[in-house]
Amino acid sequence: MSTVYLGTLAHLKANPFENPDALEIIEYGALWVDEKGAIIDFGKRSDILPKVPEAWIEDFDDAWLIPGLIDGHIHFPQYFATAAHGGQLLDWLVQSILPAETAFADPVYGKDAAKRFVKQLLSCGTTTAMVFGSQFHHANEALFEAAKESGLRLIAGATLMDSPGEGIPDSLLQTPKQTLADAETLIKLCRDEPLLHYAITPRYALSCSEEMMRLCAGLLHDHPETYLQTHINENRNEIEAVLGHFNQCKDYLEAYEHYGLVTDRTVLAHNIHPTDGELTRIAQAGCAVCHCPSSNLYLGSGLFPLSRHVKQGIGIVLGTDIGAGTSFSIWRNLSDAYKIQQLQGQSLDAAHLLYLATLGGAKALRLDHETGNFAMGKSADFFVLDPQEYDYLAERLRHCQNLDRQLFCLLHLASERQIEATFVRGRRVYGHG
Ligand code: GUN
Ligand code: ZN
Repeated sequence: MSTVYLGTLAHLKANPFENPDALEIIEYGALWVDEKGAIIDFGKRSDILPKVPEAWIEDFDDAWLIPGLIDGHIHFPQYFATAAHGGQLLDWLVQSILPAETAFADPVYGKDAAKRFVKQLLSCGTTTAMVFGSQFHHANEALFEAAKESGLRLIAGATLMDSPGEGIPDSLLQTPKQTLADAETLIKLCRDEPLLHYAITPRYALSCSEEMMRLCAGLLHDHPETYLQTHINENRNEIEAVLGHFNQCKDYLEAYEHYGLVTDRTVLAHNIHPTDGELTRIAQAGCAVCHCPSSNLYLGSGLFPLSRHVKQGIGIVLGTDIGAGTSFSIWRNLSDAYKIQQLQGQSLDAAHLLYLATLGGAKALRLDHETGNFAMGKSADFFVLDPQEYDYLAERLRHCQNLDRQLFCLLHLASERQIEATFVRGRRVYGHG
C-alpha cells in the first residue's frame, strides 16, 4: 500500500543561482509515496488527499519534510578523530589523523565503527554520503554492509596511499596489486545494490605513486559507473608541496589531469585556492567540487570562492569532511557555509543554502534522477525536522514573517536534535514509528 506523509514540505524545484523562484515551500503539504519508495505526487494536502484511493497516513503535523541531505565528502576512518587539537592540514594529518586511521586494522573495531558511522549520518538527515573509506579492506566491507542494512545511499572506496613519507605509518600503505583486487570485489558488490556505488579514492596527489595513479585511471576507464574522489587546493603549504613534487605541472589540477583523473565522474574536495585556469578546466571536464565549510574553518584552510565556481557552472556539493569538520550534520555546515560567503561579501539565502545541501549536491554527484528534491518518480529520500522539539526555536519561528524566513532561521538554529525521522526510498531508516 502507498503512504502519504503530512507536514510542511520544503525543497528546490530548480537551481536558485539561475532561477529566483526555485524554492518551493508547501504548508499543510502531503508527500505521496508508493510501496517501492517512489514519489507518486506531492502538494497541498487538500489537493493530494482526494486523489489517494487508499493509503497509510503518517501525520507529522507542522514538522518540516525536507529532501535527504547529501554529504559529498567524509572520512570513515576519522570517525573517532574529530576535534583533534592543533595544526593546519599537513601537521594535523601526521599528528592526529593518520595514527587514528591505523586503528581500523582491527576488524572488530572497523565493524563497530561502520555501524556507528552509518547510524550517525542517518540521524543527521543525511541520506547520501560520498565517503573516503579505510585503507583496510575488511573495514570497507563492513561499511558497505552497514549501509546496505541501514539503507544509506553510499558512494565509497578505499583511501589509497602507497607513497611512503615522513610520519606516514607503514600499515596504511597499500600495494597497487592488492588495491586492484579489493576495488574489483567492492565494484562487483555494488552492481547488485542500487544504493551502493564505488568511488576510486586516491587520497591526494602526494600520497600516490605514478603506478597507483595509473591504476586509478584504469579502474575508472574499465568501470564507467564508478566515481573518482580526491583532494585539491586545500591548503597553501599543501599546494606548494604538490608543485614541488610534480615540478613539470603548472598547477595542482594538472597532477590529476596528467593521469586522466579529471572527468565528469570526479569529485574534487575543497578547491579553496584555485587559479582561474584550473576553474575553467574543471568546468570543461564536467567535474564536481565539494565544499566543506566546517573543515575549512577548523583547519584554517581558507575561504571557499563559491561565486567563482558558480560563474563557471561547476557542480558543487557540500561535505562535512569529518574528522576535520566538527559536525556530522550537513545542516549545521550550512550555517558555516553562509558565514564563509558573508566574509567575502555574498549573502546566500535559504534557497541557495538548501540547494547546495540537496538538489545541487545530487546534480554534482550525478544522482539527481534519483534524489535531491520532491519530484514524481524520484526516490522518497527525506527527513522530518520538528522545531517544536526546541522551545526557543519554536518561539523564534513564530516571530518570522513568512515561511522563507522560517526556513532561513531553521538553517542556522536547528540541528540533528530536532530530526524526528529519516527516510530513504520510503523506508524509515532513522527514528521511531
Ligand atoms: N588531504 C589529504 N588527506 C586529507 C584528509 O584526510 N583530510 C583533509 N581535510 N584533507 C586531506
Ligand atoms: Zn577530506
